[in-house]
Amino acid sequence: MPAKIVVGNWKMHGLQENMSELQAISISAAKSSCDIVICPPATLIQLATKLSRSFSIGGQDCHQEEFGAYTGDISAQMLADAGADYVILGHSERRENHLENSAIVKEKAIAAIEANLTPIICVGETLQQRESGQAVIKVNAQLQSSLPQNSNVVIAYEPIWAIGTGLIPTLSEISEIHDSIRGLLNKEFGPLGSKISILYGGSVKPDNARKIFGGANVNGALVGGASLKSNDFIPIIEALSDG
Ligand code: PGA
Repeated sequence: MPAKIVVGNWKMHGLQENMSELQAISISAAKSSCDIVICPPATLIQLATKLSRSFSIGGQDCHQEEFGAYTGDISAQMLADAGADYVILGHSERRENHLENSAIVKEKAIAAIEANLTPIICVGETLQQRESGQAVIKVNAQLQSSLPQNSNVVIAYEPIWAIGTGLIPTLSEISEIHDSIRGLLNKEFGPLGSKISILYGGSVKPDNARKIFGGANVNGALVGGASLKSNDFIPIIEALSDG
């Protein structure tokens, strides 16, 4: 069985004063049967690891090279050195704003695994691709070219049009994509493919989490906005634990 995982993606939010949110999350994570991962901005990673007895810490991106003249970038090894165990890669905001294609995402995933981080590889279709019936094909193609040859990964399906909009696909649309991702992982990795967690992301909130977690092959969530406040994030953790 794949691990059940809830990942909080803080994006470019969070100052030291917000770290108190992690205390409540830590208490909830300790009671939960799920793996909880918080991905704060890089500036807070070291501080977050001090509060993270019952949850893991992740970065939001890493560079594909180990070190070098890459001003402003952070390597996978640096994230691991700061205490991270995971790293989000290929988020649609990185793909769009930083022109990262799937070949780069794959290189980053390889670098992450070499540094003993688990990459959380994000894939998802645009609204136009969804409306033209291309979602399954586009997501599979994106995943195929982003995947390293190593099954120590987590996959996050995030329809771009659902991120931060309050819109979500129907449960059968989510299941259709998650089933096809599972099929691809099984083909790629054999029996190990069935152990990879596939998360849904995009407007996951306390009031829709339980329904989403009922979908086939939905092993957890990648949560943006609702991960910033423990009052929103904890009910999502509980919904996955109970499911
Ligand atoms: P959201 O973001 O939960 O705010 O929609 C999800 C994400 O971008 O990972």
